[in-house]
Amino acid sequence: MPLLIKNGRIVTASENYVADIFCENETISRIERKIAPPKGAEVIDAKGKFVFPGFIDPHVHIYLPFMGTFSKDDYITGSEAALVGGTTTLIEMICPGPQDEPVAAFELWKSKAERLAAVDYTFHMSVVRFEEAVQGQFREIVGAGAASFKVFLAYKGALNLTDADLFAAMKLAKQLGVVVTAHCENADAIDALQRALLGAGQTGPEWHGPSRPPVVEADGVHHLCTFAELLGTHVYIVHTSCDAAVREALAARYRGVNVWIESVIPHFVLDETYAQRGEFEGAKYVMSPPLRAAANQAVLWNGVKSRAISTIATDHAPFRFKDQKKMGKDAFTKIPNGIPSVQERVDLVHTHGVRTGRLTLQTMVDACSTQAARLFGLYPKKGAIQVGSDADLVVYDPSFRGTFSQKDSHSKVDYNAYEGWERLGRASVVTVRGQVQARDGKFVGTIGRGQFLKREPTHF
Ligand code: URP
Ligand code: ZN
Ligand code: ZN
Repeated sequence: MPLLIKNGRIVTASENYVADIFCENETISRIERKIAPPKGAEVIDAKGKFVFPGFIDPHVHIYLPFMGTFSKDDYITGSEAALVGGTTTLIEMICPGPQDEPVAAFELWKSKAERLAAVDYTFHMSVVRFEEAVQGQFREIVGAGAASFKVFLAYKGALNLTDADLFAAMKLAKQLGVVVTAHCENADAIDALQRALLGAGQTGPEWHGPSRPPVVEADGVHHLCTFAELLGTHVYIVHTSCDAAVREALAARYRGVNVWIESVIPHFVLDETYAQRGEFEGAKYVMSPPLRAAANQAVLWNGVKSRAISTIATDHAPFRFKDQKKMGKDAFTKIPNGIPSVQERVDLVHTHGVRTGRLTLQTMVDACSTQAARLFGLYPKKGAIQVGSDADLVVYDPSFRGTFSQKDSHSKVDYNAYEGWERLGRASVVTVRGQVQARDGKFVGTIGRGQFLKREPTHF
């Protein structure tokens, strides 16, 4: 059914104005000051509300075999959580094990989304092995539309690459014109620090942070950027958590490296004291890189404000407290890493970024939607409100007052890292290609409506 959104204040990465938007055949077909409702159209009155382009989360895990368990969401719960929070496109990390065939992994991850996704979706393809016999498979995967790689410098023995394989994979990425997204922490340093801490009987979640200090992350960023400088490969540092790591990336940028910085919402609003909570409560806040000293948060907000940091993602990695985080009761190294946030991201950025005056609305849209679309070959189909763009729209009510709570969560996880926090603003209508998929915190859409977004390489 055609859809008309009237009287809303349209806010994109570069504009802020009042107009009506008419959507038909899944796309935006008219944007005018006043549009009379065409016969048969659904009409939504957005007076007093913002209309944003659908938000894009460029770093999520929905299906994730990791640290001896599997993340809890699937594409039904993951999509629902995303949509009620205003996110209409997910970019998931395909994370196979080092024995798995890359093409089989790509097909497996796609099969997990097909028929279940209610958001549009695409993938970054992790390179966790790169011997000659499998290299052709990565060309095939890029040709099939997953036009970005993911590499891990962390997780020794599980996901990290040797330097020789990292170099070769980044060389191929340059040839293919795909950006390499990277988890940057020095795996060997972490391994040594973890062994020393456990050997000294320091086993609780509060020791996760000390096992991966800022310098370990900064070293990873420096290392990746050195290879990028040598090869000309474009790189995107995921979940950049601290001043030292941001500085390394910016230093590389000044040397001419094509490097972009992502930070994720937990690092903006949570600090290391959460992971230090007693009674094993800190395990809920174990992620990697770890939550940092609070002083780093201003660096991240200012980095977004100045646009040095391109994107605010989530790194949604959902593990339950009672039976998964508890696997690390006797050793913090066995706590599955992750702080689920896909439902909360936009409202947290609005509450703690926009309403505090740290960010403008336009910067919020740029960091939470448009830049991801631009960097990952989705713009202006996604990340824009233009004639011809997909009608992925968020009618956002800035006057909503509430609190974050696990009881409102669509994710399968049994806790909310932001439980009881004040929430200023909420997505009141969320559309995916012109169909309403969420209203006022409820999923009202169609499971399986989501489409795979085939992307072309853009990073030559
Ligand atoms: O703690 C995290 N970040 N968990 C998910 C895996 C990853 O490193 O992105
Ligand atoms: Zn990571
Ligand atoms: Zn991740």
